[in-house]
Amino acid sequence: MKVFHSNSELDFWSANLSKDTLSIGFVPTMGALHLGHLKLIERACLENDYVVCSIYVNPTQFNNSEDLAKYPRDLEKDLKLLSKFPNLVVYHPSDKDIYPTDDFKEPPKIDLKGLEKVMEGANRPGHFEGVTTVVKRLFEIVRPQKAYFGLKDYQQYLIVKRLADSYFPEIEIIANEIIRSEKGLALSSRNEQLSNSGLIQAARLNNYLRQVVSMSRNYSIHSALEKIIGEIELDSNISLEYLTIADAETLSDYNQLKSKAGMVFIAAWVENIRLIDNMRL
Ligand code: PAF
Repeated sequence: MKVFHSNSELDFWSANLSKDTLSIGFVPTMGALHLGHLKLIERACLENDYVVCSIYVNPTQFNNSEDLAKYPRDLEKDLKLLSKFPNLVVYHPSDKDIYPTDDFKEPPKIDLKGLEKVMEGANRPGHFEGVTTVVKRLFEIVRPQKAYFGLKDYQQYLIVKRLADSYFPEIEIIANEIIRSEKGLALSSRNEQLSNSGLIQAARLNNYLRQVVSMSRNYSIHSALEKIIGEIELDSNISLEYLTIADAETLSDYNQLKSKAGMVFIAAWVENIRLIDNMRL
């Protein structure tokens, strides 16, 4: 494993690679790595000659400065977890490497077809502008053939696919299934901030999603949703931001007759930590 703390180190390494014969996979992260990240990296290592894993807590995608300040960071622990991957390059850039001037913070101009307007987009103003800005910048710096994203951030995955279609058609965007704890909690760097009882309470988000999915087989999806929203509102440990269904491709309104596939999405707060999860109907 190699660790680079600047663009110049990464550029020097990649200039010496023969890009015609060697493939580069890319796993962008904000650190505080967990098994979900390790599965992405494991897959990327199998499918590419080299894998770059970026660790960069991107300030432009946080709409809340308190959230940014308390986002978990532990580079030493992350590097220990990554040390078992021999063909891995860890890229840990500074803010100046990513945003040398304010012009670099300008979001890319892409028509996201409304994907950015719902759920995380509606509840975290500016979030997807920040994500597309940093991912575009990272793709330009790393220039991978394949990039890997986890499906817990399903909306992000669809948006990154559109970004790649517009700016980087040569990069294949690959999605990995959500990795869950034994109790069903979707793994997330934010889970580190939960207490043991918080982890148990947070695992109920997954139960609520499963209940919507199973009820939707016998009832109209809207009454299933209404019933489960009512239950969550009675759950004193969970503060619901949204529980909603959407078309899996467009994220527009799910229509049981017209949509090819639907998904249910949740965002909620447990112990003041914001968590998201989703499931196919
Ligand atoms: O999913 C994340 O961890 C981040 O949004 C990403 C893609 C690394 C961009 O900062």
